[in-house]
Amino acid sequence: MYEIKRKKVLNPTVTLMEIQAPLVAAKAQPGQFIILRVDENGERIPLTIADFDPAAGTVTIIFQIVGATTAKLGALNEGQCLHDFVGPLGTPSHLEGLKKVAVIGGGVGSAIAYPVAKKLHQLGAEVHTIVGFRNRDLVILEDEFRAVSDKLIIMSDDGSYGQKGLVTNALEDLIKAGEQYDEVIAIGPLIMMKFVCKLTESYGIKTVVSMNPIMIDGTGMCGGCRLTVGGETKFACVDGPDFDGHLVDFDEAMERGAMYRDFERHQYEETCN
Ligand code: FES
Repeated sequence: MYEIKRKKVLNPTVTLMEIQAPLVAAKAQPGQFIILRVDENGERIPLTIADFDPAAGTVTIIFQIVGATTAKLGALNEGQCLHDFVGPLGTPSHLEGLKKVAVIGGGVGSAIAYPVAKKLHQLGAEVHTIVGFRNRDLVILEDEFRAVSDKLIIMSDDGSYGQKGLVTNALEDLIKAGEQYDEVIAIGPLIMMKFVCKLTESYGIKTVVSMNPIMIDGTGMCGGCRLTVGGETKFACVDGPDFDGHLVDFDEAMERGAMYRDFERHQYEETCN
């Protein structure tokens, strides 16, 4: 059993939890993920590791309440336990050797962008972070990002916080102002990553995206997380979750992601109403 050591509500739908999982914490790297089950009969959900502390033996997860299982998870409190917490899974992000990087986070995807920015900062890279949210109430991890970024730009769709506009507007402004990046790393909604990649492709800047499709076993056996990358079938759980964004078929990924939306809404209503 995996105890919840700390719980913090970051915004109305996003929650942070620190889970006691010493074996996972000892091996975790930015970019990797875990699969958890809230209880014995629970659905497995993959969550990218948001932070980890090998000394304390804890792993931090940040999740958005989008369906029945995340609602159940969000209802748990400090001192309660998760039934399963398996990981670290997936390939760690390749961050060594990068000198100057733009890290882009969208919405709750910013939680996954944070350990990447932190690791780059620890490796001595110049980190420019751009994070985007729908409005002021949804902004998360501002202080954490500020501590590990040489430049931090916060965007909001409605202009209620930071600058008004999309993350792609801010990125294009920086590129046009002469900033030269070894790499752009984008983590967030598929539509955001798609348009970041379109932009960077036009400027010839290598771009890595973190894909978080439906996952079931997390070991490359079930095929649930398959994606098309460079015309080839890849499994996000073992080949990723990081991929060359210019090769990802985002339209196909969005279509697959929408397949279970009605089912998920139905389950959520049954669980929460
Ligand atoms: Fe089953 Fe990746 S989750 S193949």
